[in-house]
Amino acid sequence: MIREKKTAPWAANIVAHRSYNRLNEELVLLKKYQPPVVITALGSPIPVIETVHSYAGLVFADVNSVKYAKKAADAGVDGLVLVSSGAGGHTGAITGFAFVEAVREFWDGIIVLAGGMSTGNSILAAQALGADLVYMGTKFIAAEESMANQLYKEMVVQATNEDLICTDAFTGVHANMLKQSIEKAGYDPSQLTSKKEIDFQNPQGKSKAWKDVWSAGQGVNSIKEVQPAAEIISRLKTEYEQSLLNMEMAKTWLKTEVKN
Ligand SMILES: Cc1cc2nc3c(=O)[nH]c(=O)nc-3n(C[C@H](O)[C@H](O)[C@H](O)COP(=O)(O)O)c2cc1C
Repeated sequence: MIREKKTAPWAANIVAHRSYNRLNEELVLLKKYQPPVVITALGSPIPVIETVHSYAGLVFADVNSVKYAKKAADAGVDGLVLVSSGAGGHTGAITGFAFVEAVREFWDGIIVLAGGMSTGNSILAAQALGADLVYMGTKFIAAEESMANQLYKEMVVQATNEDLICTDAFTGVHANMLKQSIEKAGYDPSQLTSKKEIDFQNPQGKSKAWKDVWSAGQGVNSIKEVQPAAEIISRLKTEYEQSLLNMEMAKTWLKTEVKN
């Protein structure tokens, strides 16, 4: 008997910013390959929603503020990805605690929490807050399977939170960048100037964000070695289960205290 392999749905990530000139071509590809989930980044999800809903796919919008979460909800997305402070890549400025609470006031759809989460404990904490799913980006940069440059992986393994600089100098949007990569690319981290606006057609400066200047989120501390993704995931599972047990023990303790 051949058992059908159970796999998670795959997702496509679409840059939805108005200055991104491949959006129309990518909409054609979405229609052709029909990814079950499409995640929009950096712009309004509206152009993507019609295409993806036409084949019954789901649209999740990356949002980095409560204002954008409201806009995306009104536009008709199926899920909101709350990119909170401490995230790798483009980051929000609001903590996950405040972000989920604020969005739950007007949204009962799917919430994915993103930003600084890198252990099983943080997954349980996100659930306690009211999130349905979490994103982990930084956690997998140094995975063996990751296509990141070897030097980038080594930098992530060595880095601590002290090595992160949150700047909009490279892309026009605040992003957490590794100080050592900024220096390696020939910039003085103390002399960075704000890029002011996002423009995918005219990237500014000699170094390209992500390719030459590398990002990591505040979860970087937990990354101690380059490991296969399966080991990272297995560790997350163990931590999550241990965290659940700890909560059970806390619950039992609380019950006893209340009785006494
Ligand atoms: C190097 C890097 C590149 C990223 N590129 C994208 C991207 O192209 N599109 C996107 O939606 N999010 C992107 N992200 C953000 C992640 O999807 C996710 O929101 C973030 O990594 C979560 O925070 P964490 O890194 O603290 O786990 C990127 C993150 C990193 C670290």
